[in-house]
Amino acid sequence: MASYDVIIIGAGPGGYVCAIRCAQLGLKTAVVEGRETLGGTCLNVGCIPSKALLHASHMLHEAEHNFAAMGLKGAAPKVDWTQMLAYKTDTIGQNTKGIEFLFKKNKIDWLKGWGSIPAAGQVKVGDEVHTAKHIIIASGSEPSSLPGVEVDEKVIVTSTGALDLPKVPKTMVVIGAGVIGLELGSVYARLGAKVTVIEYLDAVTPGMDGEVQKTFQRILKKQGLDFVMGAAVQKAEAQKTKAKVTYKLRKNDSEHSVEADVVLVATGRRPYTTGLGLDALGVQMTKRGQIAVDAHWQTNVTGIHAIGDCIEGPMLAHKAEDEGMAVAEVIAGRHGHVNYGVIPGVIYTHPEVANVGKTEEQLKEEGRAYKVGKFSFMGNGRAKANFAGDGFVKILADKATDRILGAHIIGPAAGDLIHEICVAMEFGASAEDLALTCHAHPTYSEAVREAALACGDGPIHS
Ligand code: NAI
Repeated sequence: MASYDVIIIGAGPGGYVCAIRCAQLGLKTAVVEGRETLGGTCLNVGCIPSKALLHASHMLHEAEHNFAAMGLKGAAPKVDWTQMLAYKTDTIGQNTKGIEFLFKKNKIDWLKGWGSIPAAGQVKVGDEVHTAKHIIIASGSEPSSLPGVEVDEKVIVTSTGALDLPKVPKTMVVIGAGVIGLELGSVYARLGAKVTVIEYLDAVTPGMDGEVQKTFQRILKKQGLDFVMGAAVQKAEAQKTKAKVTYKLRKNDSEHSVEADVVLVATGRRPYTTGLGLDALGVQMTKRGQIAVDAHWQTNVTGIHAIGDCIEGPMLAHKAEDEGMAVAEVIAGRHGHVNYGVIPGVIYTHPEVANVGKTEEQLKEEGRAYKVGKFSFMGNGRAKANFAGDGFVKILADKATDRILGAHIIGPAAGDLIHEICVAMEFGASAEDLALTCHAHPTYSEAVREAALACGDGPIHS
């Protein structure tokens, strides 16, 4: 048994970042983690492994489609799936070991095992009960399936199983055209699988800017993904080596079915709080099963805080990290703040998709007067040279004040470009501020500047 200032439950991006900040602020800190390695879902079975497979499969796509035109002749590379998985595993290992090193450097204890909270101020791991002035729950989320869909992680898989398939399937059905479905769907499509995405709504990636949704779906179709839209999946049944998915079209209630070697269920995630003992403690939950917290990430039980996917808000690693740093500051008696209005979202397909702030649809609904500045990557010299002219930058600014209200990018390096706009928004910048900032030529970033110019007197290159 040991006493700490802070014990954090969960070593995902929320928990481990929080722990490092707590330690930096002079708090005696421990993290409870039951996985073999640190890093949570994101590093072990989420963001990082999927990015490795996205990168490898994108390289293949480039070799198959663009190399010859650049004068790079030769047979396209063949997929060695065992080696690709080894590369993915190695990428995970480098990252999880990196966190272990940071824990040692910052003198953070790793309490190995699954934690529970028998009482405020106590955390139980195995048979040991440790004490802490502050407990921070950063227990994350788990995939949520559908009724009638029995996940076996072999033929009917979640993102976890999809990152570890024994071979590249010939056919794959993806249930849900959200972030996971489209990222992993495009990995397998590029590796040669025939991918069919079945989505309940009429547009891909719910909540995203409508123009981006349409362009995104068009580009993915061009890449070979098939879409069945407005279709509610009723059930998925594993057969001997395949699975059968049954769905109903919402427009006429007609029932259809499709077979595939693998079915990926990507219909969202739900907070993971099992086994923590929150019921017995009387910790208040929201209607959606999240831990309810106040503006300082404090639950209704004094000394118990929560951050990340297990509380309200977008289920994003960087949102959890920001909350982790902010709650550490609050506990150390300083000011911790997260600006929920400026949290970027990125989809790591090719092209990438990124957004921050309001969508045009939201502004309309709020009755705000706004203007739109849009610029196509076709007018960007660097993008053209790199076969990356598909997509655009769209900036939304207040009609009267020119203040930037949101931005939506589909195109090369969108996930990096978005941060220029995030910083601008944090500083309350106008579109003109961006437009008057010198941007190096030739870069993709010039497309952001051109979109900002389009909010005023107009872009130069269109
Ligand atoms: P999601 O919420 O993004 O998308 C789920 C989709 O499934 C929706 O479009 C929904 O309409 C559809 N759906 C639900 N029930 C259905 C049914 N019966 N039939 C057909 N379609 C149905 O969820 P997803 O993709 O599973 O991701 C989970 C979470 O993980 C999200 O919050 C996401 O932000 C996060 N994530 C973020 C990543 C990133 O930032 N790049 C990468 C992976 C996950």
